[in-house]
Amino acid sequence: MNDTLIDGHGRRIDYLRLSITDRCNLRCQYCMPTLGVPKLRHDEMLSYEEMLRVADLLVTLGISKIRITGGEPLVRKGSLYFCERIAAINGLQSVSLTTNGVLLEELAEGLSIAGIQRINISLDSLDPRRYASITRRDCFHQVWRGILKAAAIGLSPVKLNTVIMRGINDDEVEDLAGLTYQHPFHVRFIELMPMNGEAGDDLFMGSDEILARLSAMGPLTPVSSSHSNGPARHFRLAGAMGKIGIISPISHHFCPSCNRLRLTADGKLRTCLFATQETDLRPYLRQGASDAEILERLREAILTKPERHALTPGGIRKCINRPMVAIGG
Ligand code: GTP
Ligand code: 5AD
Ligand code: SF4
Repeated sequence: MNDTLIDGHGRRIDYLRLSITDRCNLRCQYCMPTLGVPKLRHDEMLSYEEMLRVADLLVTLGISKIRITGGEPLVRKGSLYFCERIAAINGLQSVSLTTNGVLLEELAEGLSIAGIQRINISLDSLDPRRYASITRRDCFHQVWRGILKAAAIGLSPVKLNTVIMRGINDDEVEDLAGLTYQHPFHVRFIELMPMNGEAGDDLFMGSDEILARLSAMGPLTPVSSSHSNGPARHFRLAGAMGKIGIISPISHHFCPSCNRLRLTADGKLRTCLFATQETDLRPYLRQGASDAEILERLREAILTKPERHALTPGGIRKCINRPMVAIGG
């Protein structure tokens, strides 16, 4: 029987974002510095068995949804096997994955068989040259084929994530939203968060402006969201098959309803995306700690989850000790 996990601010915590690698096969400007970041050594990274142990324990505490992230999760050897093992944990309601889509065409079927129910795919532009400039890799066509494949084999919903950057891709809001007329995708527009990538403050565009642009396309109706108590607000354009999602961590932060924990590939439990402190579980996992001891560390850490982040538009713009690629969003 699973517990209910409540943090120090009365929020029910039931969602784990599990980053299985800090490696990525793209170099998105908002996520990774041009020169890359120091990579974890193999022995610094948790093994799949170690991750499974933490995931199992968190499920007994009350986690019921797990999203597998990276870096890019599909570049880690054995990622399908790991997804299958996670999906087999008793007591989980949902197992999902966030990917950049580069390897999706070949792996979508395996992911579905492994038990992945929902998939989110980054797509910052519909123009192949612009896509290559944002991600620093020429992979648009490959990713698009992966998106179509994921939908064709029945992964549902397929959510597309676009980080909107003023002057870089904001002129594509309408074209991206227009995808929902032909496809049942959720197209999500995400406010740029100030991480250690190289995209600067001047690129920030708030969700109110994005919504105004969408409303000019025609009637935009708020619709209910299901799954995961996630950060997106949902809308539908008249006559569209898919939905529009708006994710506004800066202008309308969703911290009061935050249900999330993160585990990094090197075994640090982060209670907030923007946390400045982490709980290092690796020594416990490697030095023979009992399940009871690890459960105690997990409970203690969850009680320290901050009430909210301190980022505001034009205010504090950086409070993070890791690049996004080493957290997984
Ligand atoms: P589901 O709700 O399970 O579909 O997932 P999601 O939308 O949270 O996951 P995804 O990996 O697609 O992330 C979409 C965007 O939301 C990314 O930019 C994430 O960094 C951001 N995000 C996800 N969770 C949080 C959070 O707890 N806080 C903040 N500030 N941003 C988050
Ligand atoms: N701001 C907003 N979203 C980001 N992501 C990565 N870095 C940032 C950032 N600085 C998003 C990616 C991916 C998800 C995991 O996080 O678009 O879809
Ligand atoms: Fe949760 Fe932190 Fe994100 Fe706020 S910033 S929603 S507290 S993870």
